[in-house]
Amino acid sequence: MEKFYTTTAIDYVNGAPHIGHAYEKILTDVIYRHFTQRCEDTYFLTGTDEHGIKIQKTSAAQGMTPKELCDMNANKFKDAWKALGVEYSQFIRTTDDEHEKIVQKIFKKLVEQGDIYKNSYTGLYCQGCEAFLSEKDLTEDGLCPDHLKKPEVVSEENYFFKLTKYKDAIIKHIKTNPDFIIPSFRANEVLNQLENIEDISVSRAKSNVTWGVPVLGDDDQVIYVWIDALSNYITALGYDPDGSSEKFNKYWPAEVQVIGKDILKFHSIYWLAILMALDLPLPKHILAHGWITIDQTKMSKSLGNVISPTSVLEAFNLDCPDPLRYYMASAAPCGKDGNYSDEDFKEKVNAHLANSMGNLLNRTLSMLVKYFEGDIKPEFKVKSELFDKALETVKAVKHHFDYFEVQEAAQKIIELVDVTNKYVTDNAPWTLAKEGQMDKCGEVLTTVLEVMCVISSLIYPYCPNIAKAMAEQLSYNLNTKLDDVNCDNIKVGHLIDKENIKPVFLRMDSELADKSKK
Ligand code: ME8
Ligand code: MG
Repeated sequence: MEKFYTTTAIDYVNGAPHIGHAYEKILTDVIYRHFTQRCEDTYFLTGTDEHGIKIQKTSAAQGMTPKELCDMNANKFKDAWKALGVEYSQFIRTTDDEHEKIVQKIFKKLVEQGDIYKNSYTGLYCQGCEAFLSEKDLTEDGLCPDHLKKPEVVSEENYFFKLTKYKDAIIKHIKTNPDFIIPSFRANEVLNQLENIEDISVSRAKSNVTWGVPVLGDDDQVIYVWIDALSNYITALGYDPDGSSEKFNKYWPAEVQVIGKDILKFHSIYWLAILMALDLPLPKHILAHGWITIDQTKMSKSLGNVISPTSVLEAFNLDCPDPLRYYMASAAPCGKDGNYSDEDFKEKVNAHLANSMGNLLNRTLSMLVKYFEGDIKPEFKVKSELFDKALETVKAVKHHFDYFEVQEAAQKIIELVDVTNKYVTDNAPWTLAKEGQMDKCGEVLTTVLEVMCVISSLIYPYCPNIAKAMAEQLSYNLNTKLDDVNCDNIKVGHLIDKENIKPVFLRMDSELADKSKK
């Protein structure tokens, strides 16, 4: 693979980031970091979606200008991603001048080539979705099924995008590329939606919505959020209808665009149509992840159960985001819904990261110091069946990531940790030492340390800080590409002194956590 470009959805900034937003960004960051281990040239885009009626109304209610609200909340998103170690290459805001300018040009181009036309329209608008809904989308009580609010009747003259013109091409694309939509079980859903599509409204009357990108040459209309929002994936790279940047030509199309299942329609139908209209290549994959619930309940302001990712770090007194990253990234099978609960979080990361993985390294290094003063002797370096298992795991993990199965890949890594723990128990190096079988004891310890190098590479995308701490104590180069990972990294000679052995992850203390919550 030559290059790898990935994106997340851009979040609405009418509030602060919650754990659902964090789930998506962590998932994408893990995918991104994995692919940095497989190719030289990678790019990761995230950002915020800042226009629309929702922002306009929220800012008014809070006595701010829309831009002030956007600035305040966009910073909260940036701060949260920093705290979570989300290492994006670029953070785009749809209020960036450069973005707005190109969106206007895109719109103008589509008008000029006849893909956008003006029409008067009466429709049911849901502010939560920032979209028009049709009668059959609604619940029995006439509510938006996602937001459980009654959509408002909007009667306006709007610009329309000729979605219907692209219907057949989109159906064909989805059918001939069965891994375009991941997970594949969602492709049918999209194909069903395609049966009934109509042209879509892509502007709003300025009399109703002021907070949007103005349509060039039409003072009465602003570009409605989805054309504005979806375009971010290409404007960020420097797409320009009059001639794009080198960066754009290098990175587009994206290998994978990560979004939530609620906005799959926009990304697998509207977005494809826009790209087709612009005569641009299509992204390789759309990954639609599921939703995160809190204690099995849908997160909602009215229930008061909205959790912010940084409050979790604070509550558990974590100075490193790795446990939360690990927990969220393995919260759900690919595309399925997942759940966050304090109890489960604590249990799972204590079990996997502290007891299994961290302890394994810690006690192996401690024995190396106790029995051999931290030295690796040439005769300790032998082949082991465990190496086959480790390299098989690398292959399996890569295979899962080819399909963006982040949880499934994590399970393979923990399986390797478990097998290695069993190897230690079965071979009982402490008994070997007691019996004076020192070479055999050294072989066992060295074998484990070799596998720990592989594990540190594999766990890196999930737990970059822990992986670094592991690699440091193993004198292992964490920049090793996955294709070059082998089981010949532990060098003959002195490896480590007692005082340099440090636990890579301490069990989360439940009392401490409970106290800081009150
Ligand atoms: O939809 N669990 O913004 P948004 C998991 N601006 N994911 C969740 C979630 C949850 N509980 N709640 C939200 C928008 N998300 C548009 C996107 S893209 C060009 C424009 C996910 O702030 C949601 O599925 O409502 C989406 O992918 C992302 O967070 C932003 O949601
Ligand atoms: Mg939403």
